Amino acid sequence: MIVHYRLMESRDVPGVFKVDQACFSHNWTQDSYQAETNNILSNYIVAEAEGEIIGFGGFWQVIDEAHITNIAVVADYRQTGVGQNIMNAMLARALEQGCVAMTLEVRGDNQPAINFYLKNQFTREGRRKDYYGPGMDAIIMWRYGLE
Ligand SMILES: CC(C)(COP(=O)(O)OP(=O)(O)OC[C@H]1O[C@@H](n2cnc3c(N)ncnc32)[C@H](O)[C@@H]1OP(=O)(O)O)[C@@H](O)C(=O)NCCC(=O)NCCS
Repeated sequence: MIVHYRLMESRDVPGVFKVDQACFSHNWTQDSYQAETNNILSNYIVAEAEGEIIGFGGFWQVIDEAHITNIAVVADYRQTGVGQNIMNAMLARALEQGCVAMTLEVRGDNQPAINFYLKNQFTREGRRKDYYGPGMDAIIMWRYGLE
């Protein structure tokens, strides 16, 4: 399987939205992804296989911090390294943009994603109570140093 990794363009938005719909319970709208293509603080990487978007990841640059908004890979392609390649591309992009740290929120019960971030040298630094709804806390994770 050949997967291409590149920056998101406007033409990718329907495919990215489809991945979002397949992967998240709290969905963004297609318009919000469209808006990201015009946001100078936004940086999105897409993974494309056979002309289809199969995964993506994005962050907002806030001064010298990269705040991950979303990262997802469609179920059929998970655990094959696609997420890792997206993360590597995001880390490289963040470093290139002058960021020194990366952060995100993840649902406390999303163990695959927590493992994924731990493997990528993120550490648990805090918790936002009921962030995803009653009883669904967010874990705040940070990675300091992106090299
Ligand atoms: C999190 C996610 C993006 C990982 O993508 P992926 O393509 O499956 O990840 P990779 O195959 O590159 O795995 C990289 C590492 O992550 C960890 N990992 C990934 N999936 C895992 C799982 N199901 N269980 C445990 N660890 C897992 C492993 O450490 C893995 O390294 P290894 O293969 O050497 O063991 C994917 O599971 C996903 O899209 N989940 C649904 C959306 C989501 O929850 N996004 C995060 C929101 S905060």
